[in-house]
Amino acid sequence: MKFPQQGQPPAALLSSLKARKSNDVRWEDGRVFAYIYDAGDEAKQLLKDAFSLYLMENGLDPTSFPSCLELEKDVIGMAVDLVNGGADATGTFTSGGTESILLSLKTTRDYYRDVRPDITRPEVLMPTTAHPAFHKACQYFDLTAVTVDVDDDFCAIPGPMEAAITANTILLVGSAPSYAHGAIDPITELGQIALRHQLRFHVDCCVGGMYLPFAKELGYDIPAFDMSVPGVTQLSMDFHKWGYAAKGASCILYRDRAIRRYQIFSHANWTGYAVINPGVTSTKGGGPIAACWAILNYIGRDGYLKLVQSAQEASRKIVAAVKEIDGLEMMGKAQINMLALRATDFNIFPLADAMKARGWFIQPQFGFANSRENMHLSVGPHNAHNIDEFVADLREVTAQVRAAQQGVEPFVMPAELRDFIVNSGPEVMDQLGDLLGGDGSTLPGKMEDINLMLNQLPADSREMLLGEFINRLYNPDTQQ
Ligand SMILES: Cc1ncc(COP(=O)(O)O)c(C=O)c1O
Repeated sequence: MKFPQQGQPPAALLSSLKARKSNDVRWEDGRVFAYIYDAGDEAKQLLKDAFSLYLMENGLDPTSFPSCLELEKDVIGMAVDLVNGGADATGTFTSGGTESILLSLKTTRDYYRDVRPDITRPEVLMPTTAHPAFHKACQYFDLTAVTVDVDDDFCAIPGPMEAAITANTILLVGSAPSYAHGAIDPITELGQIALRHQLRFHVDCCVGGMYLPFAKELGYDIPAFDMSVPGVTQLSMDFHKWGYAAKGASCILYRDRAIRRYQIFSHANWTGYAVINPGVTSTKGGGPIAACWAILNYIGRDGYLKLVQSAQEASRKIVAAVKEIDGLEMMGKAQINMLALRATDFNIFPLADAMKARGWFIQPQFGFANSRENMHLSVGPHNAHNIDEFVADLREVTAQVRAAQQGVEPFVMPAELRDFIVNSGPEVMDQLGDLLGGDGSTLPGKMEDINLMLNQLPADSREMLLGEFINRLYNPDTQQ
């Protein structure tokens, strides 16, 4: 697109924006099992209204916008209360789980630089199920990520985690729960390890912070996971997931408020205004914090209990149905609403495309370590009214996909092709055009063949190919 010469009227632009959504997943109907956290029409209207009230405000400067400061203090106070942070706890409102995790690792690194300057190659110890945001933080902040295998339920195993601690370890990581399988790590035992070795311990509650407290209160069997667990020093939780806030809303919490000083960037060595940023960004839109504050107060504890109950019931229905579907099985304990299901005897990837053709979105996940390739479902209250139809389609589609594979040799990537890709750089995309259905600069229609191929490559090669795919995809069309 070229830069427009003349402006256009709002109505035309808004209808163009609406039209552009036509190829997006149809989340409004409750048929999407990832990315969407929807607490209903009134809640969404409140988000829009609160967000637009603070559309232009800038939380960068609390002296000019004290109301943004007050909103953030309220939101952090509510979060600390929910996860039992204690009297000395504090935190920062961030743009998302990734920013919360980035800040946690940067803060920990800088704290250790100060108190343990002898540690020159700091390591962060995490289970293989830890979210990629931890690896991103390690990459950004020059930390070494050390991963440890998990058990058959995809939970961290305390013994091997402890055995992997070295003189360079600065931080332990556990998830409550992990995104992929909804597995809750043994936070109590990991906390004891952290205490024994005097390490800091981050519990990643990005997806669980606004869910597990209520599931526990409802009587579901949820192990201890929050800041009341001895040894837990910091915790990330997202409001824009099961808190139903507008996207761009998470927080990082610390048990000890003094450590947060290592998080804050403060710069007066230039010609302009003093830049003091608690988070990664400087300008801080007022919309996300205002919408977050409004939704937490609108839904309240009673409302969240009902929403979690609804998501739990919908999830239990899916788990029960999958047990009865030939060829499918649940992975891990499947205790909450973050589920993963795998195929027992067929290639599962075509299932996602076939379900998509019926209007459902389920999320393919590649095999890695002890986790076979599978389909992820994040089940929310917005899906609840569709569960019967969903499981009926899942049963039918599974039978069709399985039948279509009967007698067909499963695709196995030829060793030469695999070696060729493994030993190539990003330019290999030029030669994979036919296999991928294009040169990588446009979105593919069907994903099943691509996923099947990627699943048979080492994770490093998947990263390389997908990274290059994104690099080619996000380019402006300058020819028009
Ligand atoms: C457990 C966990 N941690 C971190 C993140 C990253 O959050 P975000 O996508 O908001 O950056 C996610 C996202 O799903 C998550 O599930």
